[in-house]
Amino acid sequence: MSKLVVANWKSNKNQAEVKLWLKQFLTADLLLTLKKLNLSVALTPAFVFVDLISQAVSDKENVFLATQDISPYPAGSYTGAVSAFNLSTWPVKYVIVGHSERRRWFRETSSDVALKVEQALANKLTPIVCVDENNFKEQAGKLSESVWKQCVIAYEPKNAIGSGLAADVSEVEKMVKKIKRQFSDTTKVLYGGSVTELNINDFLNVVDGVLVGHESLDADSFLNLIRSVKKPPKLI
Ligand code: PGA
Repeated sequence: MSKLVVANWKSNKNQAEVKLWLKQFLTADLLLTLKKLNLSVALTPAFVFVDLISQAVSDKENVFLATQDISPYPAGSYTGAVSAFNLSTWPVKYVIVGHSERRRWFRETSSDVALKVEQALANKLTPIVCVDENNFKEQAGKLSESVWKQCVIAYEPKNAIGSGLAADVSEVEKMVKKIKRQFSDTTKVLYGGSVTELNINDFLNVVDGVLVGHESLDADSFLNLIRSVKKPPKLI
């Protein structure tokens, strides 16, 4: 089982910037590196770039397309929302739900996130459910263990996101155990929050992958981060 590195671009980049990033990032050398390191990468653009990314990654082993959110509702009369069904003809593999920025700026609750998880799974998308130390128990209580077994959980301590202050690795290790106990012991757990090329190996020793925000925006920085992974990270 390969470890996963998720690039979350949030609301950054216009079309020209996405094209340039893809040209700089998707090199033959990168693909070899991913294979050698047993790593997968998920690119998570704004919805409007889903088509562009899907074309660019369609023939690339170990590089996947993801989205940053999904509607809590099915296809239907929900103006402005992007439903999981809207995405169903693109090769979207993962969908991030419940990111702390969604919870903060869009007032999303754990109940909303649970609806999104159900929509994603009904449309064969794997949810990456973001939680922190304050909401993980509440979030886990919203759905059954059999549902959580089909999800990936991302532990993202609020203070670590975008701050340059990554969490302490031993604290993350403890939280992973708590999260597995709460959700399901087979659920994969990622870490997100100020991951850089300097700390990625420490985190990959204790989690199944990482979510990378800031350091994924520049193609060279993200390439450096991937190239700095030591081979092969211990599998959990
Ligand atoms: P960051 O963002 O890497 O910029 O801290 C992580 C995230 O929001 O998932």
